[in-house]
Amino acid sequence: MQDVVVIGAGLIGCGIAYELAKRGASVTVYDRAEPARAASWAGAGMLAPYSEEVVDPALLALCAASLRAYPAFVEELRERTGVDAQLRHEGTLHVAFDDAAARGLAAQCEAFGRNGAVATVLDRDATLAREPMLGGNVRGAVYVANEAHVDNRRLGRALVAACTDAGVRFERTGGVVLEADARRVRGIRTEHGFLAAATVVNAAGAWAGGLPGVPAAARIAVRPVAGEMLALAVPKGFTRGLVWSNHVYLVPRDDGRLLIGATSVEREFDVRVTAQGVASLLAVALRIAPVLGTFALVETWAGLRPASHDGRPYLGRTHIDGYLVAAGHYRNGILLTPVTAQAVAALIAGERPPVDLAAFNPQRAPEAA
Ligand code: GLY
Repeated sequence: MQDVVVIGAGLIGCGIAYELAKRGASVTVYDRAEPARAASWAGAGMLAPYSEEVVDPALLALCAASLRAYPAFVEELRERTGVDAQLRHEGTLHVAFDDAAARGLAAQCEAFGRNGAVATVLDRDATLAREPMLGGNVRGAVYVANEAHVDNRRLGRALVAACTDAGVRFERTGGVVLEADARRVRGIRTEHGFLAAATVVNAAGAWAGGLPGVPAAARIAVRPVAGEMLALAVPKGFTRGLVWSNHVYLVPRDDGRLLIGATSVEREFDVRVTAQGVASLLAVALRIAPVLGTFALVETWAGLRPASHDGRPYLGRTHIDGYLVAAGHYRNGILLTPVTAQAVAALIAGERPPVDLAAFNPQRAPEAA
């Protein structure tokens, strides 16, 4: 019998598995795809709750706790595996290109500050001094100093390697069904048969709401919201940090790619990248920096953000003993990985979680009412 089965080998599932394996638990992670793919691979790795306009105090506090946990998390994985996830604390620049946006900078700065951001308004010269690649028609910016970014694909490789090193097993199989009666989980069923487990964690991202076998009282509502992205090959050091304008962001990578994202499209589990999606991203990106039009488009892709019914993730125990949920992180899954992993693993291990999870109780899901 397994101590713990985790369904979903994204960053959230792997993070929980890693924390539990460190505590000596026997853990197997199931996924239909290879580990650390889907949204964990597709995301931009922004650790930017203020720029994401998170205003819910409970969620903001969770995001801030995870942001604080990031340096130690990345360093632990680097020490254990040799893979550096390239955490960069360069902040975020919100750039204005027209009169209306320029007039709004002071109010935008104040709103960021109210939520805990360390934000300042920069005039045109200071904005260009920070990011010289910006178009000449830039009017000014708000700079948020306490945000960061990480290479989520490298982070995924580091976390999977750390899991394996700590004894976590990965099983690649689709069609996982939860086996539970009205009170208690018994394990899971796959194409290979029944596997008994004392604890099962649903960390299946955009697919978490559709896990077969979950009794009605423990179901959660998660819907996929697609995000299309693209990458250009730019000279190294082309931008310092995150740059946002008109809901489009630019994220530099140490390997010379500049990620540009992301659309937000509700069309079920469709991860096509459309011409319209690419056109809309490039239209804003080329306004931010016209010189981007001269660089090679090297990659396009899309991922599915797992959106909950109220914007908060579902974290913790359910009505079914032994069945827990860690899903619905929407736009902040990469940011929330360390705190989710530590808190959910602590719950399972019978320890006091490092953060209060009351606001994220999965039993608040509409289906569970
Ligand atoms: N966190 C970025 C996005 O979801 O597009």
